[in-house]
Amino acid sequence: MARIVVVSNRVSLPSRDRDAQAGGLAVALRGFLKRGEGIWFGWSGRTVAKGEETLHRVDHAGVTYITTDLSRSDYQEYYNGFANRMMWPILHYRLDLAEFSSRDLAGYIRVNELFADGIHQFLRPDDVIWVHDYHLLPLAKALRERGHQNKIGFFLHVPFPPPELLTALPKHERTILSLCHYDLVGFQTDGDADNFERYLTNECLMPSRNRRTFIAGTRTMRIGVFPVGVETVEFERLARRTARLAFAREVLASLGDRRMIIGVDRLDYSKGIGLRVRAFDQFLADYPRWRGGVTYLQITPRSRSEIREYANMERQIDESVGRVNGRYGEAAWTPIRYVNRPYSRSTLAGLYRSAHAALVTPLRDGMNLVAKEYVAAQDAEDPGVLILSRFAGAACEFQAALLVNPNDPEAVAAAIDQALSMPIEERRARHRQMINVLAENDIKFWGSRFIGALTAPSDGAYRPWQASA
Ligand code: G6P
Repeated sequence: MARIVVVSNRVSLPSRDRDAQAGGLAVALRGFLKRGEGIWFGWSGRTVAKGEETLHRVDHAGVTYITTDLSRSDYQEYYNGFANRMMWPILHYRLDLAEFSSRDLAGYIRVNELFADGIHQFLRPDDVIWVHDYHLLPLAKALRERGHQNKIGFFLHVPFPPPELLTALPKHERTILSLCHYDLVGFQTDGDADNFERYLTNECLMPSRNRRTFIAGTRTMRIGVFPVGVETVEFERLARRTARLAFAREVLASLGDRRMIIGVDRLDYSKGIGLRVRAFDQFLADYPRWRGGVTYLQITPRSRSEIREYANMERQIDESVGRVNGRYGEAAWTPIRYVNRPYSRSTLAGLYRSAHAALVTPLRDGMNLVAKEYVAAQDAEDPGVLILSRFAGAACEFQAALLVNPNDPEAVAAAIDQALSMPIEERRARHRQMINVLAENDIKFWGSRFIGALTAPSDGAYRPWQASA
């Protein structure tokens, strides 16, 4: 088996209580790398003075982690700048928030070159390279320029918007079109893949063999759809165990007889947290019989707070939560519990299992693994209800969730009422449909499908995945 090299901006380094801290995706990628003495390459998380960037190496449990520091200006221009002030909003359909600067673009390209230089030092000709996410679009180009002919695949975790929106990105050919240097470009949903196909065909006039195979000079580049999954079986087991532990029981006891609705999101405008609070406000107004009978726990760790937009949003959400609690709260009941601290994956698993419903209402999301973990965590005999935005990638597989338009507070309010009143048979039937999808397309299957497609002969048959009914 060829050695696999995973490349991503963030690297989940092994720590003492490893898997409890890491996200599910990180745990799964490690599992993959372990099989073939793989390497995980990325940013060390440290910023240093220019010229003092060093490579760090950690060998742990069959995986080698190699990370590079970034200079402060590279970090500003590449991470805070182009990746998060330009690519992130555009990819999430928020042209209004995108801020272009040529200097940031130059920093973005420079850091991709720096990554390529780092990888160049250890790369073997038969290594298979798997690059992740919007920080690293031009990485294959930089590696090809250094003479590497390896199989290189790219997976985009976030949405890919239609070309009409994407072409508003100045010099988009330097970033988006450079994806053609990969052998395989993977997306979360068919809609994302179709958007890329339209961009290449209509905007770049790229020659193609079919809708999913393009001819880029002497090589072919394939497009695939690989909806990311979770560790379905392990997560259910974890949730069953942690729901019985003191922490989850304490939270439930503090609610008395009240139902609990849970929301867990990084503090990000794509998550629609402000509109969700508004929808909960609407719910308490439209369905007064639930007042005093339900508590909405929103866990929202802060993120990217150096970026102005994120700091503004933080203030707005604080204020709207305060308003709802002030309007409806009583001495013995707080309608919304809003918490900014992060919780470990195992703690969240227990809370998911204890919650009667989950509100996952992003305005745009590549997939949304909270939705998948919430479903995986449920007790099949007495499952909670998932209220899910139709604009999350997960909605393609979760037709049995209560699908909502997050921009419509009245509709979300009605879905909350429906979720809390849903008869047990319906809850079980909906959960069964969703857990079947998760059991089939779990995270290991996702990884093997991607690597399988990447290493298949380029004109070998590539079969898209379809959830069986
Ligand atoms: C999203 C992106 C990831 C990113 C994560 C956290 O899920 O797809 O690539 O790592 O957000 O954001 P941060 O900027 O803290 O890495």
